[in-house]
Amino acid sequence: MHKLSRRVRFSVNPFLPGDSPGFNSFSSKPAAEGLAVFFEMTVELAGELEPTTGFVVNTLDIDKSVRQYVVPLFAERIRKDFRQGKHISLADIAELLKNSRDRLADKFTPARTSKLSLNLNPFRKVAVDCEGTEQNCKMIYFSEKFEFAAMHRLWNDEFSQSRNLEVFGKCANPAGHGHNYIVEVTVKTPADEKEFRIADFERTVDNKLIKLLDHKNLNADVPQLSTTNPTVENLAVFAWNRLVGKFAPAVLHCVTVWENDRTSSSYLGGA
Ligand code: NI
Repeated sequence: MHKLSRRVRFSVNPFLPGDSPGFNSFSSKPAAEGLAVFFEMTVELAGELEPTTGFVVNTLDIDKSVRQYVVPLFAERIRKDFRQGKHISLADIAELLKNSRDRLADKFTPARTSKLSLNLNPFRKVAVDCEGTEQNCKMIYFSEKFEFAAMHRLWNDEFSQSRNLEVFGKCANPAGHGHNYIVEVTVKTPADEKEFRIADFERTVDNKLIKLLDHKNLNADVPQLSTTNPTVENLAVFAWNRLVGKFAPAVLHCVTVWENDRTSSSYLGGA
């Protein structure tokens, strides 16, 4: 089985009757004029390779289907609600995503749409499963990125000095070194605002995790990490342990920690 992901970017200007079709799909198509609402939708497909093309699905067909069946859903809803001055909630966005899933369900056969996710901005996304139980399909995955700056040193007291230098290299520098870390926290939740509020989610991550780590020496200032080598893998586990059970009725699904744009680790404690 193969998986294929394609990002489709589009914009809706709620103050105009329609959008410019656009000629640069890398940026946004429709392009919109002036201030607009920008989205990036990722379609994840699962299936077998078609031998004559080497494709699971032609990405041009994915773009075409999203623009034909999904973009009008968003455009119509956003224009209508903006004109009425109506709040578009997370639950509304989840509903749009689920309707998008239904509209795309039979468009890529024999490949299957396995996941649909929508970036609301570069740091926040909402996703829905397209397979699995009916109960599972009612839930959404909400993800948001946070940052903290910290220093650390990778070292194992049980290794000799030369072994430490051999294994950890520059990361074993005695005075430590710093990173601007990014943490992405993903919860699985009902989209209803009565059950999940983004502000509460952010406050919890800030209080339980970010405040503990930001502008700290991870080896010296964080007692819970004093016996752990603060690798990116261990930091993801640490973040998981700090946050698990804190978002009820939402459930923590995954934590990913980046220490730079080339190195990250994800931990799914529930899997
Ligand atoms: Ni490091």
